[in-house]
Amino acid sequence: MADQAAILAAPPANVHVVRVTAVKHYSEFLFAFSCERPGAFRFRSGEFVMLGLMNGAKPLLRAYSIASPAWDEQLSFYSIKVPDGPLTSRLQNIKVGDEILLGKKPTGTLVLDALTPGKRLFLVSTGTGIAPFASLIREPETYERYGEVIVTHTCRTAPELVYGEELVAATLADPLVGEEAAKKLRLVTSLTRDPHKLEGRITTLIEDGRLFDYMQAPPLDPASDRIMICGSSAVLNAMKELCEARGFVEGANSEPGSFVIERAFAG
Ligand code: A2P
Repeated sequence: MADQAAILAAPPANVHVVRVTAVKHYSEFLFAFSCERPGAFRFRSGEFVMLGLMNGAKPLLRAYSIASPAWDEQLSFYSIKVPDGPLTSRLQNIKVGDEILLGKKPTGTLVLDALTPGKRLFLVSTGTGIAPFASLIREPETYERYGEVIVTHTCRTAPELVYGEELVAATLADPLVGEEAAKKLRLVTSLTRDPHKLEGRITTLIEDGRLFDYMQAPPLDPASDRIMICGSSAVLNAMKELCEARGFVEGANSEPGSFVIERAFAG
């Protein structure tokens, strides 16, 4: 007779069970991890997937942007640690070799095909919202499509910028995209609660023009610029309004436009 407890604890058919291959803690509140990529797992750079752990007999899953490119053998993620969060309070303790659950259907709007052709690509992120752009800046097609790729990363405090700085350094050293990235990729960081060379919310920096003064570059123009946005729902809403006020049109997989936001995180 089958073991009833084992049946109840078995993960559902819509998830893979995969092993953790790396874990790196950035701070008390941030960590990154990687896992095996199942043979049948296909995705486009910039997409997200449901990920989590069993919680008793049930899976506990949350949407996570995949922070590695579509060609990579491993899957990487970047996460906050919420002390009393149902998933991250446990997920933050994972170790190499542990098993996690990975959804079988990655999806999302932060993909190159959801944008019409353009010259400059702005990848606007706050906090862990930089994760999908970790995937896209290591994707060769990003550099085939755009002459300039600008990642903006706005956080509260300086330690939160480390992941993005390491990411860009690794991208420049990457044999596949490093040469193109050296010519086209730029990381612009700003902080809102620590001193920094550029201080303020990204919305404010765009509105008062300080971002473009700092970059010594022209302001946003829907004729040539394309924008992807990833952050908290407050940031997504504020950036969407700002883009639309400047004549940008939201795109989707079915109908490409001049900007896209990650709807999975638009609470
Ligand atoms: P602030 O420090 O002024 O709240 P969080 O860590 O809360 O996700 O925030 C990440 C970054 O996003 C912070 O620098 C925060 O600035 C900024 N932020 C929060 N809300 C908005 C908003 N509505 N528009 C633009 N930036 C925002």
